[in-house]
Amino acid sequence: MSTRAEAFDHWIRTGFVELNTELENLYFAQKDRAQAIGVGDALKATLRDEGHVHVVALLAEGNTGDGFDSGFAVLGNVGMYLAALRRHELTNPAREERSPFPEASSLALHVGASLGMAPRFSTGHLSTHNLARAGVRKSFTSLADEFLFIDENTRGILSLQTAADALTRVIHLGVSSPVADVLFTTAKQSLEEVLLSNRRLFDQLDIARFFFCVRPYYKPYRVGRQEYRGANAGDFSGINEIDLLLGLCRANDPYYAQLLVDKMLFMLPQDQARLRECMTHTSLLDELLALAPEHAQQPWFRKNARAYLELCDLFGQTAAQHHDALVKRFIEEPAAHLEPDKLEGITASGPPLPVLLRALETLRDMRLAANRSGIATRYSDLARLRQALA
Ligand code: HEM
Repeated sequence: MSTRAEAFDHWIRTGFVELNTELENLYFAQKDRAQAIGVGDALKATLRDEGHVHVVALLAEGNTGDGFDSGFAVLGNVGMYLAALRRHELTNPAREERSPFPEASSLALHVGASLGMAPRFSTGHLSTHNLARAGVRKSFTSLADEFLFIDENTRGILSLQTAADALTRVIHLGVSSPVADVLFTTAKQSLEEVLLSNRRLFDQLDIARFFFCVRPYYKPYRVGRQEYRGANAGDFSGINEIDLLLGLCRANDPYYAQLLVDKMLFMLPQDQARLRECMTHTSLLDELLALAPEHAQQPWFRKNARAYLELCDLFGQTAAQHHDALVKRFIEEPAAHLEPDKLEGITASGPPLPVLLRALETLRDMRLAANRSGIATRYSDLARLRQALA
């Protein structure tokens, strides 16, 4: 990292965190915890001005060619800075046509374009590629609930990535291979870990602290003229690799394909490549269904098809848990108590909450292979496979 990139990174890990934490404590102490405008103005100005010094220095330096890690860290840092300005209402895409922070926008656009990513901070910055220094990882604040959220999200993502890796290896062995058992077991254990980390979030995360002090950093904001949606824990390829390899979602389904296209630039370049590659494979479900008529009584078929179905059940449970427990407890229920004017910008992707909830419900039902009309699930195909084993 160049000296300037290093200095910015140091500030993001220290002064930036302190200022955000002080501001959060001010907002949270109010009767109306959702009120940010007109509160802590001096602290906000300090945050804006201190960050600006680093941004201007880096913009003048240009691309140092220091390599992916440095560029990626700068993109995350300038993105976190802009996200904090958005959170503190120093910018709001609803009342502006372009970002009031042209230097930060230029820096984000320059680095984002050179990496092949959206010009904003993404999930990878705060999860799988959040480099800890002496045990401390990057965050917006030093609130215990933010660390809990970041850490459990990361554990969930890492486990889903492990499951996706294992399923990818099954593709290369073939679903009839006797040694696929090792991989099915790895995937199963990883999905069980996801259930556990989701459960810890459900039990331990403070609803009000999360809703009022953590979630607001994930709102959409403008970079230059364009508005970019916020990061969410789904911006990594592993979850979609599992969808596609299990065959529960299909890349030729127009709804799902649109989702894949939309999230592409929010992922790390290596994840983008994995997802593209994954789209070229036949799913395990289609492989098993093609083998079933001739081989359903063979021991290898029965063993592997059972292991496959067990994975589908577990994966469905993780999806139901995300929607019915986490989204409900930490977003839907607290949002129901907000005044309508405070609901704006509550979601990371921007649409009104009911629209977002319906979209998440669709994904849940695809992953559950639910018996639903109006969306293409694999309900009857899974039933056929179960029937073949009966
Ligand atoms: C407090 C915990 C959590 C809450 C409240 C939550 C809520 C949400 C919301 C509201 C979205 C939609 C994003 C938007 O447009 O606003 C979303 C997306 C997503 N989240 Fe979470 N989430 C939580 C934790 C997790 C964890 C631990 C994971 C697993 C690693 C995860 C995986 C995903 C995925 C994959 C998506 C993208 C949509 C999809 O493919 O299902 N989330 N989450």
